[in-house]
Amino acid sequence: MSSWRAIAAALLFAALPALAGEIPPDARRSGYTFMGPDTRAMQDDDTSNPGMLFVLDGEALWSTKAGSAEKACADCHGDARSSMKGVAARYPALDKLLARPITLDQRINLCRANHQQATALTYESRDLLALSAFVAHQSRGIAITAGDDPDLKPFVAQGRDLFMQREGQLNLACSNCHDDNFDKRLAGAPITQAQPTGYPLYRLEWQTLGSLERRLRSCMTGVRAQAYEYGSPELVALELYLMSRARGLKMETPAVRP
Ligand code: HEC
Ligand code: HEC
Repeated sequence: MSSWRAIAAALLFAALPALAGEIPPDARRSGYTFMGPDTRAMQDDDTSNPGMLFVLDGEALWSTKAGSAEKACADCHGDARSSMKGVAARYPALDKLLARPITLDQRINLCRANHQQATALTYESRDLLALSAFVAHQSRGIAITAGDDPDLKPFVAQGRDLFMQREGQLNLACSNCHDDNFDKRLAGAPITQAQPTGYPLYRLEWQTLGSLERRLRSCMTGVRAQAYEYGSPELVALELYLMSRARGLKMETPAVRP
């Protein structure tokens, strides 16, 4: 990340095309298409994809009783291959009681609190990543539909505003890199379109699985901005905007990224 300052200068002062604006639907591409053949092969082969270990952990947790209700996810939801199919492709989704969008992680923790009488799992903890990877894996290959609910409109708009807003000491908006300069390189790595198709995913730089929120927070730190807290309304809105911006792209969980 230390090289981001030089890069930002390059992005700002190099002869770049005028603002390209939002990416047309038929030009949207997953981060997968920007990767080299080795990283693609790692994602494609379940026996070499390190994210699959988390999926297997999640599968075990799915049928483990937890909390004072002594219920497992499977006791209510049965076989995840059918009950959870396509679910992650429409998250963040509106929670009618809370009257706001919630992420898949938050939904899982609501089930722990309300249906298992168990304590919430910490963001980025192995168990929460494993459960969300297992649930999201049931949507692999399914087209993203998040943000379709008309009641979510104001939240999608909030996320879009955040995506377009310049921030941090480097005074860059997400869109300056991910709409205007994708396919250019930053510290040797290609800048992608920031399509959230693969989360939670295994990042080689992290040497572990991580959530979309972790990825967004590291981009915020990259431009020297104060990163929003996990689960904050701002991060959820950004996540919702990214998912609705990726509508039609297929889920890849667990993806692998450099
Ligand atoms: C006692 C029954 C029960 C248990 C145990 C339970 N859930 Fe749920 N779950 C529900 C109900 C009911 C809903 C619908 C939303 C609500 O009323 O909370 C739901 C909703 C969900 C959804 C959202 C589905 C959608 O279509 O939007 C996910 C994902 C989910 N649960 C995952 C889990 C996971 C993971 C566990 C285990 C950690 C779990 N649930 C444990 C009852 C349960
Ligand atoms: C200075 C350029 C820059 C800015 C500004 C920036 N990012 Fe990134 N972002 C990157 C780079 C570089 C990566 C890693 C390579 C890649 O996936 O593009 C990345 C990765 C991502 C990814 C992962 C894509 C995938 O395939 O998994 C997402 C999502 C993302 N950024 C969202 C954001 C959001 C939201 C913001 C604003 C809060 C933001 N970025 C700001 C450069 C930037």
